[in-house]
Amino acid sequence: MKVWCSDSQVRLEWSDGYTRDYYSLWLYDNRPEHRDLHSGQRLVDFADLPEDVAIASASCDADCVEIQWRAGSVSRFPIDWLRDPGRQFEIERHSWTSADAPRLLWSDYRSCDEAAWLMALARDGIAFIRGVTSLEDLIAGVGYIRETNYGRVFDVKNMPDAENLAFTDLGLPGHTDNPYREPVPPMQALHCVQPGSEGGESIFVDGFAVADHLRTTDPTAFEALTRTPVTFWFRSAHVEFSAERRMIELAEPQGIKAIHYNNRSIQVPLLPIAQSAEFYRASKAFSLLLRSPDFTYVVKLDKGDAVVFDNQRILHGRTAYGSAEQPRWLRGCYLDKADLISRLAVLSRQGDGCHTNT
Ligand SMILES: [Fe+2]
Repeated sequence: MKVWCSDSQVRLEWSDGYTRDYYSLWLYDNRPEHRDLHSGQRLVDFADLPEDVAIASASCDADCVEIQWRAGSVSRFPIDWLRDPGRQFEIERHSWTSADAPRLLWSDYRSCDEAAWLMALARDGIAFIRGVTSLEDLIAGVGYIRETNYGRVFDVKNMPDAENLAFTDLGLPGHTDNPYREPVPPMQALHCVQPGSEGGESIFVDGFAVADHLRTTDPTAFEALTRTPVTFWFRSAHVEFSAERRMIELAEPQGIKAIHYNNRSIQVPLLPIAQSAEFYRASKAFSLLLRSPDFTYVVKLDKGDAVVFDNQRILHGRTAYGSAEQPRWLRGCYLDKADLISRLAVLSRQGDGCHTNT
């Protein structure tokens, strides 16, 4: 490790040639004395920082870089932290198609490796589990239920005079739930209380894989769906929601952030003729891919089976089912995603050491 400094900056060069420059005020802001020892939270606001601080000298040992401030005090910064001070816990996501579906995780509730199951859920956007007796107990291991107008937990079964086709015995193509709600419920869980005697297979699609495929095979359609705002709308006797979204929402610089697709609630905007034609062509191409056997994973959930999935990535649907004998009955709920990522981040700390500058 080589160290150079001037009044206003420090330059570090690691043995592998990696070099970074650190502005004096940034180092002063991040000095350990400016962080709470227990929580790691900042103890200073920008208004409390001086306009300028001068560095007198900088040196390093095996673990830390030591800064002597011209004003007289000394601060020590762990070298590992200086190498990547902005490091955040991240999940590498794995897109999947129907050919990859056999690798999707099915665990048994009693013998489930919690960390592996949560990681599969975050990585694949979906994970299954057998032998669940309580949806609420399952969710307690993932995060917190997010209550909506459908209730804290809702029954997905055929009901008379249903205000939403979800609560009928009709087949439903792949969709994300509640794109008309702001914010969209990030995740959804479904628990099979009673499998239908006739039909009612569940359908799952990785919308990110489909969108990536569309981008490669039909970039014009992909661009139209990422550019055109559409309104999702839902109204019943007691609620009325609407939200404007792109069906494929991009993250900077090139990633896909979210899929919003629900045929029952989409309101196509009135566009100029050429743009309208392009939007319908693009939407049909996307819709056909979402139905394609190349991307759909079809499975009949049995009693006690449960599934949790990312509602802004994984589309879900079902085949129609008969209601004469034993009708299909699932219980469902929505939940936040932040708690899933948080739990994985905490689990990853074990044996990882602390990378803060406390
Ligand atoms: Fe749904």
